[in-house]
Amino acid sequence: NKANYLHFMAKEIHEQPEVVGHTLRRYVDMAAERIALPQRLPFDFNDIGRISITGCGSSSYAGHVAKYWFERLARVPVELDVASEFRYREAPLRKGDLAIFISQSGETADTLAALRYAKAQGLHTLSVVNAPTSTIARESETMLQTLAGPQIGVASTRAFTCQLMVLAALAVAAGKSRGELSDADETRLVQRLIEIPRLMATALATEPQIEKLARDMAKCRNVVYLGRGTSFPLALEGALKLKEISYVHAEGYAAGELKHGPIALIDETMPVIVIAPYDGVFEKTVSNMQEVAARGGNIILMTDAKGAREAIVDPLVTIVLPDMAATFTPMVYDIPMQLLAYHTAVVMGTNVDQPRNLAKSVTVE
Ligand code: F6R
Repeated sequence: NKANYLHFMAKEIHEQPEVVGHTLRRYVDMAAERIALPQRLPFDFNDIGRISITGCGSSSYAGHVAKYWFERLARVPVELDVASEFRYREAPLRKGDLAIFISQSGETADTLAALRYAKAQGLHTLSVVNAPTSTIARESETMLQTLAGPQIGVASTRAFTCQLMVLAALAVAAGKSRGELSDADETRLVQRLIEIPRLMATALATEPQIEKLARDMAKCRNVVYLGRGTSFPLALEGALKLKEISYVHAEGYAAGELKHGPIALIDETMPVIVIAPYDGVFEKTVSNMQEVAARGGNIILMTDAKGAREAIVDPLVTIVLPDMAATFTPMVYDIPMQLLAYHTAVVMGTNVDQPRNLAKSVTVE
């Protein structure tokens, strides 16, 4: 049931404050402002030397964001693979370490094969899945469910942000167990997580502005997305979403990589979407925007009020998102990415909920 929406994707985008809120309440004790995982973990984070995170597509990008969180908050090294590579590269794995698998459907063949491989190597396996009776959910030692509800549109939207919520809670739990975070740190981080659904709702209010932007986007052949830190995987996710449903070619890059090749693409026909909340790497991203501006590229800046004031360059469009603490920005900044892909696809007239050549769950390797 699409309610009053034109497409399931639109409905799923708009339901995010609600489903991310459900997911939050599964992993957080709201009154005590503490992380409260629904089950005891069968391992101690202090015994984990390294975490391997694996998934495909958007789920791998959620893992990529989580890598920053686990490393920063819990000081545990993380390695990240797309599932189709993990098994074949003969990585030296240590028995007793932790492998995390991320999948909305819980049936993705490559991710399942990677899970079986990790199990055979003696790793602890933990999956973050949306379908609790799926094969990946059943076969992993620990299953943490995302409460995104059924994802009917093929493109992952709310599944992605719910995955981020679970992974954020788990990263805080890891930091706490490893003694990297104090009780006060935990409270502060949990308060930030509790704010997320409200901030997502505020971000949805950018829709009219994005809808207008999408009309120009639909005229473009190529789009570049840039970000640093946790905004880097979000650039990858934004580009994937756009190409997947609107068939406009898009690439995401770490902002600092621009000058190592992709800058050759920049001219006055090229929109460059810059994801840059005012955080610890903002100034660096500004210098990358200057490189783009100097070559006539059209900057579309996704930032907050402070970032909009400090950006120096003159973007073609600035989308102002709510002020928030830096750590968990991807859950909020993903909303304009999703809306932009959606409205571009609507202008292009593509089959938004069922893009060509794609399947909801990919059960072949
Ligand atoms: C992108 C998308 C895909 C999936 C990928 C993994 O919008 O939906 O990239 O994220 O196929 O699927 P799951 O999460 O079901 O393993």
